[in-house]
Amino acid sequence: MTDLVYLNGDYLPLADAKIPVLDRGFIFGDGVYEVIPVYDRRPFRLAHHLERLQHSLDGIRLANPHTAEAWQALIAPLVEQADWEDQGIYLQVTRGPAPRDHAFPKEVRPTVFVMVMQLTTPPAAVVENGVAAITAIDNRWLRCDLKATSLLANVLLRQLSVDAGCAETILLRDGLLMEGSASSIFVVKDGVVLAPPHSNLVLPGITYDVVVELAQLEGLPLALRPVTEAELRSADEIWLTSSTKEITAVTRLDGHPVGNGRPGPLFRRLHAAYQAYKHQVMRGRSTPSPLVGEGTTPSPSPASGGGQGWWEP
Ligand code: PDD
Repeated sequence: MTDLVYLNGDYLPLADAKIPVLDRGFIFGDGVYEVIPVYDRRPFRLAHHLERLQHSLDGIRLANPHTAEAWQALIAPLVEQADWEDQGIYLQVTRGPAPRDHAFPKEVRPTVFVMVMQLTTPPAAVVENGVAAITAIDNRWLRCDLKATSLLANVLLRQLSVDAGCAETILLRDGLLMEGSASSIFVVKDGVVLAPPHSNLVLPGITYDVVVELAQLEGLPLALRPVTEAELRSADEIWLTSSTKEITAVTRLDGHPVGNGRPGPLFRRLHAAYQAYKHQVMRGRSTPSPLVGEGTTPSPSPASGGGQGWWEP
């Protein structure tokens, strides 16, 4: 059964999962969430995602309703019963139902919701050709490090790229590269891999961390430091990364080719390293790489087609 979800202690079909309209997640977007890829029914970097969830909960001053072990146990039946080997877990915690008032309720009954979706990773044509992106001014708040459900700014920014027939909107703040509307961004300039460091202005991407580790293992020159708009616009390569997009080359920016307009050589190396890492760790086809001792971790999904993907605006 594919549409089983978890809501506040119960497993039930999606159509039967209901929340009160006064839930603060609905009224205020007062909640946080995670998206966790699952390869071969094994959650990828689950421990890292749960750590980030804790960071987000701390950031909105909401107690974590579960220990890491309890989260793992709660998620497992959904992953097991789903029709697909490769999945995306979506989990959300809100400050729960309460009479409408901006201030926190005295007694908080958090709403916990978890569902699994089919994981649709970049198809072969996207890996081969890359995607187009546009830039926009980052008009989000100053706590972009929190994975909050209040995503209105991200939604509006993402729609700009859909309207332009592009796969992502790359955000600039005060002349500096931040991230995508739903992804982290890397730039290659003169053989050096550059990416903005973690800060309150960007989400600490779990895939970003994997790519940084793989770049280090590959011995690529790497600098995690502020990246200017000029560096972005003159980049030899641009990559976007996320749990669902993995690592994807951006080959056009604001209508201009990036580098020679094709996915670059460092993208190809890192993409291959990412796929190999997934195979190693998740499918157990060989000894796991020493780079990631996770226990709860990742692999490749076949380039899935079918259905509209984020690369098809
Ligand atoms: N988004 N930055 C933003 C603003 C994001 O929304 C995401 C991911 C990332 C990449 O993070 P990670 O590598 O941990 O997926 C960066 C998810 C996939 C989403 O909201 O659907």
